Amino acid sequence: MKKINNAELNLKALNQEVEVYGWVAKKRNLGNLLFIDLRDRSGIVQLVIRPDNKDYAVAEALKNEYVVKAIGKVVERENKNLNIPSGEIEIEVSSLESLNKSKELPFDISSNTTALEDTRLKYRYLDIRRDEIKNRLIIRHKINLLIRNYLSDLGFIEVETPILCKSTPEGARDYLVPSRVNKGKFYALPQSPQIFKQLLMVGGMERYFQIARCFRDEDLRADRQPEFTQLDMEMSFINEDDIMSVAEQLVAHIFKEIKGIDIKLPLLKMPYDEAMDKYGSDKPDLRFGMELIDITNVFKNTNVEFLKSNLDDGGIINAIVAKNCASNYSRKEIDKLTDYVKTYKAKGLVTLKMEDELTGSIVKNLAKEEIDALIKTLNLEKNDIAFIISDKKNITKVALGALRCKLARDLNLIQENDYKLLWVTDFPSFEWSEEEGRFMAMHHPFTAPKDSDIDKLLTDKAHCYSKAYDIVINGYEAGGGSIRIHDEKVQEIMFKALELTEEQIKEKFGFFVDALKYGTPPHGGIALGLDRLTMLLSNTENIRDVIAFPKTASASDLMSDCPNRVDEKQLKELGIDIIKK
Ligand code: AMO
Repeated sequence: MKKINNAELNLKALNQEVEVYGWVAKKRNLGNLLFIDLRDRSGIVQLVIRPDNKDYAVAEALKNEYVVKAIGKVVERENKNLNIPSGEIEIEVSSLESLNKSKELPFDISSNTTALEDTRLKYRYLDIRRDEIKNRLIIRHKINLLIRNYLSDLGFIEVETPILCKSTPEGARDYLVPSRVNKGKFYALPQSPQIFKQLLMVGGMERYFQIARCFRDEDLRADRQPEFTQLDMEMSFINEDDIMSVAEQLVAHIFKEIKGIDIKLPLLKMPYDEAMDKYGSDKPDLRFGMELIDITNVFKNTNVEFLKSNLDDGGIINAIVAKNCASNYSRKEIDKLTDYVKTYKAKGLVTLKMEDELTGSIVKNLAKEEIDALIKTLNLEKNDIAFIISDKKNITKVALGALRCKLARDLNLIQENDYKLLWVTDFPSFEWSEEEGRFMAMHHPFTAPKDSDIDKLLTDKAHCYSKAYDIVINGYEAGGGSIRIHDEKVQEIMFKALELTEEQIKEKFGFFVDALKYGTPPHGGIALGLDRLTMLLSNTENIRDVIAFPKTASASDLMSDCPNRVDEKQLKELGIDIIKK
C-alpha cells in the first residue's frame, strides 16, 4: 500500500529509505543525471537517478504521466526550491519501476494549461490531476465534513430521501424517468427534497439535514447545473431568526475553517424591497457601492419628451454614478453598455458626464433647475459619469442593477478575497408571470405568508409578503428557505391563491395535504447551494470547476457522451415511442 504523500517529505525524513508512487509530472536530463518530478495527490517530490543506477534505462524511457514506483534515500538538495513543500529534499533513487504507460496527452497537466474547457471536460479524469480541479474537490470534501460534524453536534440527523419520486414544487422543469413496471407513468427526479423534509418534520425528526442531489431542467448559467447539490435542512419548533442564526453560524464556521476568515455575525438583514430599490437585485453584491438613486422627482416637470412620456406611463427614473472615470467612457464604450442594458429589456441608457459642466445628449433640453438638482442629488464631481435608465419600475431597477455589477467588474472595484454576506428577507409571496398571465409562488407553495397577510392571500396578492429568506454572498444566492405553512387551512388558501383546482391539489399534493392533518409541528428550513458555496470559497466563477464530472451549458457530459440514444428494445419495454420530426 502507498503510505507516503510525496509533498509531505521534507528534511525531517533525511536519510530515510522511502517508497514513493505517482505520475511523472516532468523529467529533466542534466549531464546524464535524470531528475523526475513525481506527482501524487499531495503534490510533488523530486527523484534523482544517476547513470550508474541499475534502472537507469527504465528512467530514460519514462514520459509524462507514466505511473512510477521508486525506492530511495531522502537527501538534502543542493539547489533548494522553496516554492514547494518538499523542495529542500530529493530522493536518491535506488530502484525504479514503471507501473504503467500513458498515451500522449491531449493537453498539459499544468496550472496554466491553455486547453479549451471542452477538451478538459472530454478528458475530465486528466483535468482532475490538475491542482485547479483537484484542490477544489478537496475543499468540497472538507466543507461536507465540516457540515456533517457541525450539524450532528447540534442534534441534526442526516436522512436520505428518494431520488425517484413525485414531482416537487420548486418551479423548474422536471427530469422525468419512465416506469417500466407502470407503463405510461413517470417518476420525477427531485428538484429538492422539499416535501420529504417537511414530512420528516411531521414524522417527528425535529432536526434534519441532508447533502442532497437535486435535478432541474432549466437554462444553464455560469452558476447553475442541471444536477447540483444542496445542504438541505429543516427544523421544528423554530422561527425565522432561529433558522437564519443556525445557518449563518454554520456558514461562518465554514469560512473560518476553509479560508481563515472571520465573518461578523449576526449578518445584515435587508428586506427584499430595499434590496430591489437600492441594488436592483434580490441578491445584492455589497462589495462595492454605486447604489441606485431615484431621480424621478428631479424630472417631474421635464421637457425631455421620452422621459416625460415614460413618467406619464407610470415609469421611474434611476441613476448610478461611477466616480472619477467619465474619461474612461468613449461613445463606443457607452454604446456597448446601452446594448448591455437592452438585454435586460431597458429601452435605452442615458449618460451624463461631469466635465467643466454637465454634458450629455439630454443636457440641452434640461432646465437649469434640473441640472442643479441632478448635480446635487447625484453628488456629481469632476470626471464622474452618471448612467440613467427610465422605464417601468421593475425594468429600470433590474437593468440598472445589472449594469452596476458590470461596471464594478469592468472598473475593478472588487477586491479579491472580500466577502460580503447578508440575508435578504421579507420576500413577496407571489410574483406576476407575464408568460402565465397570473401570480405564481415566488418561492414554493409551502412558504408561510406573514401572519398579517394571510387575509390578503386571495384579495391582494401584489402586497402579500412571506416568511422567506435568502442568504446572499458576493451577489450570489447561496441559499434560500422559509418558515412553512403547517396549518392545513392556510395551505388550502395558498393553493387557491395559486389558482390550483381541487383536482390539481389532490393529484399533485394530496398525500402532503393529508399529512398536514396529523399534528404537523411549526417548522421551517433552508437549503444552501453547496456548489455555489464551494465556488465562493475556492475563488472561481465557474460552477463546473467545483464538480468532479459536470455538464456543459447544453446539459451534456462530453466525456461519456451523455445523454445518448437508447435502443428500440429498451424503449419498447418502457412503452415509449420517439417522435421523429
Ligand atoms: P432554492 O430553489 O432557492 O430552494 O434552492 C436553494 C439553493 O440551491 C442553489 N441552487 C442551484 N445551484 C446550482 N445549480 C442550480 N440549478 C441551482 N438551483 C438552486 C442555490 C439556491 O439558493 N427547497 C427549497 C429550500 C427551502 O425552502 O428550504 C429550495 O430548493 O444556491
